Amino acid sequence: MRVLVVGGGGREHVLVWKLSQSKLVKKIYAAPGNAGIAEMAECADIAVHDLKGLADFAQANGVDLTVVGPELPLTLGIVDEFEERGLRIFGPSKSAAQIEGSKVFAKEFMKRYHIPTASFRIFGSREEAIQFARSADVPIVIKADGLAAGKGAVIPESGEEAERVIDDMMLRKVFQEAGSKIVIEHFLEGEELTVMAFTDGEHVFPMLSSQDHKKIYDGDKGPNTGGMGAYAPTRVVSEGLMETIGQEILEPVIEGLNQEGRVYKGVFYAGLMITDTGPKVLEFNCRFGDPEAQAVLPLLESDLAEVFCHIVDGDLHADTIKWQDKCAVCVVLASRGYPVEYEKGKEIKGLRRLAGRDTMVFHAGTRSEGNRFYTNGGRVLGVTAVEKSLSRAIDKVYNAARKISFEGMQYRKDIGARGLNAKTSFF
Ligand code: AMP
Ligand code: GLY
Repeated sequence: MRVLVVGGGGREHVLVWKLSQSKLVKKIYAAPGNAGIAEMAECADIAVHDLKGLADFAQANGVDLTVVGPELPLTLGIVDEFEERGLRIFGPSKSAAQIEGSKVFAKEFMKRYHIPTASFRIFGSREEAIQFARSADVPIVIKADGLAAGKGAVIPESGEEAERVIDDMMLRKVFQEAGSKIVIEHFLEGEELTVMAFTDGEHVFPMLSSQDHKKIYDGDKGPNTGGMGAYAPTRVVSEGLMETIGQEILEPVIEGLNQEGRVYKGVFYAGLMITDTGPKVLEFNCRFGDPEAQAVLPLLESDLAEVFCHIVDGDLHADTIKWQDKCAVCVVLASRGYPVEYEKGKEIKGLRRLAGRDTMVFHAGTRSEGNRFYTNGGRVLGVTAVEKSLSRAIDKVYNAARKISFEGMQYRKDIGARGLNAKTSFF
């Protein structure tokens, strides 16, 4: 089988790495890929939003299955475009991807199907939003409706800040049209958790639970990032709670989308807050999480290409999906200045000293020249270690991270630490 992976970050590198181990896969292409992916796949310089260019490429190269990493092409309708041309592709249709593409859609959908989430109001008028924010019981969370590269949710600390955030989104249009409408919702307290699931549109199978670390600094301080590291599985959820998440959140969403004629085949991502009154939805994504994928997929024992094929064919069953009884930790190495303005073009050293079966380096923002690697983005690399226990995986991943260096390299030193102390929630 010839596979095309769309995207060029750490998530796509782990997808290519895992697919390269499949007995079904003979050749992997990536578009646009990155310097690490280029060591395992043939990269084509096509942008992820160039749907026609990607479909032309798949047709011209006899690609049997296309796997989409990022949300943008999914929300633009890459799956519809490929299917119209008779090309096999893994991911939700454009109408189903709305669950991530529009927070207004997602919140109204949750209300329609009684899915637990923070109470909310939707605003298309700046004046009404400001009036509401002034009178609301703080704390609140303000979210732009559309895609905003993980920066579209703000928790203001004062009334003035709330007004400024609303003005940024609705008046100054910092997220362009994504901020034409906004959601203001109640702030939820609890433990944050990621549960991703494989679904063929009918059957839903949760993956191992994971936790992202969104803030730039240790102890969850500083501004939000795309994610500074992740670990899996977590001890936050008991088996009973996982069942509740399946029955009250994952299954009703897929069933509801189905009822509305929105075909969802792919990975469904639920960002949850485990509150005192049970799990509540913070956000939905229509794809693998990044960096969660770099912690979860190395623990998958099954052949990923086989899982994807069953999903596309609509006959996914539990036996197809097996997990290793181990723990994985992924630490992101980022450029100085990230997540604001960051440097590029610094030589990365120490990569070749990391050969080991259970330690992987997934590239995100990198490029190569000859046999040298250089930084080329905010999040540069994700180092993942797999071990029998979480504490051993943490030791191993930091031993590996310390061997890598580039000027201005920054990373969190506490990835996975909360997993060591976490209390399991039972409901
Ligand atoms: P979102 O883009 O909706 O995922 O939000 C980004 C981050 O903001 C989440 O990962 C949470 O850490 C935080 N967040 C979002 N909504 C809420 C909420 N209702 N209560 C508390 N924190 C939230
Ligand atoms: N790690 C969060 C996300 O992928 O959106």
